[in-house]
Amino acid sequence: MARVPVAVVGAGNMGRHHVRNYAELTGADLRAVVDRNVERAEALAARYGARAFASVAELLERAPEVEAVSIATPTITHREVAEALLAAGRHVLVEKPIAATAADGDRLTRRGRERGLVLAVGHVERFNPAVRELKRRVDAGAMGSLLSLVARRVGVMPPQVADADVIVDLAVHDIDIFRYLLGADRPDAVYANAGRAVAEDRFDFADAFLRFDGVACLLQVNWVTPVKIRSLAVTGTAAYAEVEYVTQDLRWFPARPLESVDTFAELEAYSGREPERVELARREPLALELEEFLRAVRGEPAEVVSGEEATRSIEIAAALAEGAERR
Ligand SMILES: NC(=O)c1ccc[n+]([C@@H]2O[C@H](COP(=O)([O-])OP(=O)(O)OC[C@H]3O[C@@H](n4cnc5c(N)ncnc54)[C@H](O)[C@@H]3O)[C@@H](O)[C@H]2O)c1
Repeated sequence: MARVPVAVVGAGNMGRHHVRNYAELTGADLRAVVDRNVERAEALAARYGARAFASVAELLERAPEVEAVSIATPTITHREVAEALLAAGRHVLVEKPIAATAADGDRLTRRGRERGLVLAVGHVERFNPAVRELKRRVDAGAMGSLLSLVARRVGVMPPQVADADVIVDLAVHDIDIFRYLLGADRPDAVYANAGRAVAEDRFDFADAFLRFDGVACLLQVNWVTPVKIRSLAVTGTAAYAEVEYVTQDLRWFPARPLESVDTFAELEAYSGREPERVELARREPLALELEEFLRAVRGEPAEVVSGEEATRSIEIAAALAEGAERR
């Protein structure tokens, strides 16, 4: 397999995981790490035998062999950084959200298409093995008709997120998963209640309702709850399923008729019913995401989240935020 020469722009919290994974993947040849904080780039590059640069311009000039680049800089900079790389003919994987606004997302998508380049977006939850298996079961009809999806993504505020509110930063993950599982494009109804509980300058909690073709999706995101929860519950006519994103667990409960119970022991047994065990091979979702990106770069069939799809998610997030702000 040809190894794709790659670089990572942004050596912070997320970028370091891109760097580590590229260094480990057989399909990638990690050449460079770029960060405007050049000491940060140098420290990370040195660990993995790559070169360090302080800007995209320097990367393009001094490492022209690089064909594909991950962007893990703050969301507000995605448009500018991705545009420079696409204009220079590099394939791009930009972290989620694609950009701070849907207009910028559209612009990047157009640029990628015009140049015939891969523009993939890091909606990493799609690559979680539990989500993949759930999607397979939904598509195979094992859940029957879907009735509702309930997602929670809560925890304390990460100090480095200074440029995005909780809807742009967190809700886009779940909006993307709703669209993916339902095979849907736009919701026909959205409503959000959001506010500023701890942060003064932007939404740090939101509770939202979205409806796609009659399927209700409930979403809770915040930077307030003192425990980290990343979960999804899906109710279908033939089964109920729960996903724990962090542990990659899929809990599966096939539909069953109501049983009449007489004793307390029977009642306890009925109520405390265990799910069917779903054995899944655990894998780091980011590694799977990057493998697909590299496949796309090599021109092979690949499952990447496109610019169009990612732009739709940010458009929906903006509609939720606008509605909440108006109210
Ligand atoms: N997929 C996920 O689950 C996930 C998780 C966390 C963050 N993210 C995304 O990753 C992105 C980065 O988040 P983070 O938490 O790693 O941020 P961070 O602040 O920890 O790191 C960003 C780095 O980019 C550098 N930088 C800023 N502007 C630059 C530029 N123009 N050129 C080169 N370097 C530049 C900064 O010096 C910093 O080191 C955000 O878009 C965020 O939404 C995604």
